Formats: sequence, structure tokens, C-alpha cells
Amino acid sequence: MNPISSYLSSSIGRKWIVALTGLGLFGFVVGHMIGNLQVFIGPEPLNRYGHFLQGLGELLWVVRLGLLAMLVAHVVFTIKLRLENRAARGTPYAVTTRRAATLPARMMALSGLMVLCFIVFHLLHFTAQKIDPSFLALHDDKGRHDVYRMMILGFQSKAASGFYVVAVGLLAMHLNHGIGSLFQTLGLNSAKVRPLWEKGGVAFSWLIFLGYASIPVAVLTGVLK
Ligand code: HEM
Repeated sequence: MNPISSYLSSSIGRKWIVALTGLGLFGFVVGHMIGNLQVFIGPEPLNRYGHFLQGLGELLWVVRLGLLAMLVAHVVFTIKLRLENRAARGTPYAVTTRRAATLPARMMALSGLMVLCFIVFHLLHFTAQKIDPSFLALHDDKGRHDVYRMMILGFQSKAASGFYVVAVGLLAMHLNHGIGSLFQTLGLNSAKVRPLWEKGGVAFSWLIFLGYASIPVAVLTGVLK
């Protein structure tokens, strides 16, 4: 076996892949949220930003494929690690381990799965615009796709907005635990630094939740029109 394959099949190698792909996806989540929050400035910056992204052409596809590859690797290697841990323990989930685990830790698989379902819905909703095909015809006075009006119309549905808020809540929970796992994989687990990343992880996760959830909530409450 060559050194790369042997590293990838080791438990530590797999942990590093889960951690690094998680970090890459986290970077996207932060960047995407900042881009979306431009909705609070107005239609012009948001539509300009959407137009800029679409104008990237082939580069956009490189980024999309990169994100997809990270997502697939993150999920596949997480499943492999879980199966290995379970086999090493000999019995499926000992009751004592379950009790000791925090709620986000136990929710990791469920929240990850729900986030995946959300991403599929979200891509059909805002990227492919299959849920409401009338979004395809939305253009602003400069002829660009009217991302601003698409968001306002999309979040006027209480069901869609509710789903987004629940999904970003689960995403925040997933990130909170994921940040902890990342620092453990990096070996930054001493009594001195642990409280720092624990508090930082909670603060970051709340920021992600509030940043994303603020958009549907602002539309439903009439703050964004
Ligand atoms: C309130 C929350 C969100 C809003 C308003 C929002 C808005 C949007 C919009 C408008 C697009 C389409 C951009 C365009 O084609 O012009 C988009 C694409 C996308 N969003 Fe979101 N998003 C939200 C949350 C999320 C979350 C939480 C994730 C990931 C966990 C996510 C992942 C993506 C991805 C992967 C794309 C496709 C990017 C591409 O390939 O073009 N979004 N989002």
C-alpha cells in the first residue's frame, strides 16, 4: 500500500480528513452568510453579488465541485470512523457512553443528515429554482437575476421560513460540536486552551444561527420588504 492510502486508512488520517473538510465547509458557511446578509443593505449589493458569482462561469463550477468533494469526503470518512469505533468497542453504543455524551454530540449524525436534506431542498429552491419556477423570471432593472426579490418571495412562505430556521439551528448545533472535534484532532486539548475553543465554538455557532435565521425572520416580520 502506498503511503497516502495507508495514511487514509488509518484512524488518525481519517480524523484529519473529516476535520479539514469540515473546516473548508465551515469557511463556505461563513462566506455564504456574509454574502446573504447584504440583503439588509438592499437589492443593489445583493443582486450585484449574485451577478458576480454567476459571472465566474467555469471557476464557479470548480468551486461547486470542490465543495461537493469536501461534503462527500466529510460524510464518507465520518461514517467509516463511526463504524470502526463501533467495531472496536465490540458492542453497539454502550449506555454509559451515551449518557456521558452531550446533546450536540448525540445529535451529530441526525443534525448532519438533516443539514444534507436541507441542502438538497435549498439548491432546488434558490439555485435550480425548481420549487417555484417563477423565480427564474425575476430580473431587476439592470437585467440581472433579482436575488433580493427571490429571497423576499421565498421567505413569505411560513413553511419554507420555518424549515430554514430549524435547519440552520441544526447546522449551528452540528458546527458547535464539530469545532470541538476539530480542536481535539489538532491536539489543542489542554486545560488552558479547551475552555477558550469551547466558548468560541458556542459564540460562533450562535452567530451562524442568528445570521442565517435573521433573513427569513426579517421577511416574515415585514422588516425586509
Ligand atoms: C437564510 C439562509 C440562506 C439563504 C437566504 C441562502 C441564499 C442562497 C441563495 C440566494 C443562493 C443562490 C445564489 C444564486 O444562484 O444566485 C444560495 C445558494 C447556495 N446555498 Fe444558500 N442560503 C442560505 C443558507 C444556506 C446554508 C445554511 C447552506 C449550507 C449549509 C447553504 C448552501 C448553499 C449552496 C451550496 C448554494 C449553491 C451555491 C452555488 O453553487 O451557486 N445556504 N443560497
